Amino acid sequence: MSTQDKSSSRSRSKAIGKSAIKNTPPKDTKKVSLFRRLDIRFPWLKLVLVVFIGIVAILDLLDLTISKTNNHVILATVAPMQKHVKVTERVLVGKKLVALTFDDGPSSATTPILLQTLEEKDVPATFFMLGKMAKNNPDLVREIESKGHEVASHTMYHQNLIRIPLASAKADINEAASVIEDILGHKPSLTRPPYGNNNAEIRKAMDTPVIIWSVDTLDWKNKNTEAIVSTTMSEIHDGAIILMHDIHPTSVEAVPTLIDTARKAGYEFTTISELAEIKEVDLEDGELYYNILP
Ligand code: NI
Repeated sequence: MSTQDKSSSRSRSKAIGKSAIKNTPPKDTKKVSLFRRLDIRFPWLKLVLVVFIGIVAILDLLDLTISKTNNHVILATVAPMQKHVKVTERVLVGKKLVALTFDDGPSSATTPILLQTLEEKDVPATFFMLGKMAKNNPDLVREIESKGHEVASHTMYHQNLIRIPLASAKADINEAASVIEDILGHKPSLTRPPYGNNNAEIRKAMDTPVIIWSVDTLDWKNKNTEAIVSTTMSEIHDGAIILMHDIHPTSVEAVPTLIDTARKAGYEFTTISELAEIKEVDLEDGELYYNILP
C-alpha cells in the first residue's frame, strides 16, 4: 500500500465514522417521527398547547403585577415621603455638615415621633441613650438602628462620673455598653459622659471615642421650639455636634423647623461616625471630640 492509499483509506474510514455517528441516534428519529405522527393525527394539539402555555404565562404575569401593585399601595399609604427621600439620595457634596445628637432617651412617649420626623426629613442622627432607658425600650433601640441612626452610650444611670468612685463609674459605663450589646449584638460606637464631665481615667474606661458637643441648644432648659432653633442657628458651624434631648416634647417639636432652617443655610445632616468618615477624621477610643473638623 502506498502512503497516498493509506491516507485516503484513513480519511475514508474517518468519513464513515462521522456518518456513522450522525446516524447513530435512532431514538431522536423515533421522537421526531412520533411528534410528526401526533401532529398529523391531532393538528389542533399544537394550538391547544400554545393556548395553555399562554394562559399560564398570563396568569403568572397577572399575579406578579398584583403583588407589585400591592407593594405600591402599601408604600403609598404608609409612607408617601420615604419613597422619594432615601438616605442614599442625600446630597452631601458641597454642603456644610453637622450631626444632630439626642441624649437621655429613648422614650416611648417622644422618641417614636422624632423617628418619624427624621425619616420624613431624611436625616440620620446619633442617639446617646441611657442604658436604663434602652433596657426598658429594646424595640425602640432596634428601630433606631434599623432606620440608619447611630446608637451610642450616655452611660447607664446618668451619674456625674467625676464625682463617684472610679470603680462605680467604670461599672456604670460597662453596664450601659452591655445593655446595648444585648439588644443590638454589638457595643455602642461612641460614648458621651453625662454633663460632659470626664477625666483621663473615665475616657480610658469608655473604650470608645468620647463625644461632647459644640452647639448646645439648651433645649432641656428653655423648652421652647423657637429658642431651640435660634440658639442652634446662632452657633451652628461646619463639623458641629448639636446637643438635644429626645425626652422633651418641645425638643422633638423643634426638629422639623431646625432641619429646614439649617438646610436653607447650606447645612446637611449626618451621624457622627459618617461625619468623621467624610471629614477624614479617625475617631480614636478614649479621645475627646467637641466637633468633627479635619
Ligand atoms: Ni444627659
